[in-house]
Amino acid sequence: MTNDDLGRLPFGHPARRLFALDPEAAFLNNGSFGACPTRVLEAQDAIRREMERQPVAFFADILPVRLRAAAQRLAGFLGAAGDDIVFVENATAGMNAVLRSLRFARGDEILTTDHVYGAVRQVLRHLEATAGVVVVEPTLPWPVRDEAAVVEAVARGLTPRTRLLVIDHIASRSALILPVAKLVELAKAQGVPVLVDGAHAPGQVELDVPALGADWVIGNCHKWLFAPKGAAFLWARADRQAELHPPVISHGYGGGFVAEFDWVGTRDASAWLAVPDALDFLEALGPARVRERNHALVTAMAETLASAWRTEVGAARPLFGAMATVRMPAGLPPTWEAGRALRKRLWDTHRVEVPIMPVGDALWARLSAQIFNVPDDYARLARAVAAG
Ligand SMILES: Cc1ncc(COP(=O)(O)O)c(C=O)c1O
Repeated sequence: MTNDDLGRLPFGHPARRLFALDPEAAFLNNGSFGACPTRVLEAQDAIRREMERQPVAFFADILPVRLRAAAQRLAGFLGAAGDDIVFVENATAGMNAVLRSLRFARGDEILTTDHVYGAVRQVLRHLEATAGVVVVEPTLPWPVRDEAAVVEAVARGLTPRTRLLVIDHIASRSALILPVAKLVELAKAQGVPVLVDGAHAPGQVELDVPALGADWVIGNCHKWLFAPKGAAFLWARADRQAELHPPVISHGYGGGFVAEFDWVGTRDASAWLAVPDALDFLEALGPARVRERNHALVTAMAETLASAWRTEVGAARPLFGAMATVRMPAGLPPTWEAGRALRKRLWDTHRVEVPIMPVGDALWARLSAQIFNVPDDYARLARAVAAG
């Protein structure tokens, strides 16, 4: 399919053919790991074959140049400068790189929220154990109708001892878009640096990374940018780069931000090198067309399910991107185990894939909409839940 054809492609069933997804599935979970178009997988495969044809020339001569070109291309999409961006395998690696590079004193406070991603919370726990920091996790209002309430909740957690704000751009469990620019402003007013976990943001919301005003921003390319698995980036403001080191120290140590992160030992860089192919795909479709259609579909479907279940959606429409949460009908305890068990039952019995997670005192279904979804996918979820 040419790029012109992609630009005119109707979403839904025609788009589904561009992916390797199980044809039986109602796949309502692009959020967890994304879905990579077959054309991007083929590009990645070609990169791997090129690597295996002459591995030494590939790693010594080709990779350093191609990696920078891919970073430059991604940076262009994100409104950033190429040398302010390095690739990492995933958002977790990027968050580790920043959090474990910074130096803290005993009693320093790191402010985050109760919506923080579980793996990132574990990194913060590690810093509590090793550096003696105190992690402050205010509870966000939930369900939430306006972003001012979110800003107020975070503001209440700021103290004279706060040394860092760690904020999700789009929270994993709730799908809530946090008002990042306002939170950055709040933190900066007290001289507190900000680390943004934007695992879900690139491709799902319009994004100008430097304009967020944060010190460091992490983002995944494999969730909403159509890249192969294992493609993520770390952006650091120019004056915050020297203090950063990758989770794995290698030859580049002491050589500066790009040198340290671009080489951390032999590894398969094909997912990163295929990021330009993924961006070609997205740009041919039209990033705004994709965002707007997915947002409209997922918020409408969330409202339909909420009225079928006589429950509610988690947030007002503008606080959702291409994901939205709906409270599940009562009956199950609000625990991770109950949510995981229900998710597995829905898949095993009905071939409906949707994550079910606790937020506050209930279980919530986190719906995603990607270009291959159709309203009937969500109707299948309603039928599956009704059938038990
Ligand atoms: C907010 C947030 N941070 C970090 C991650 C981790 O992403 P990865 O598995 O790519 O490291 C996720 C994954 O869903 C997430 O939602």
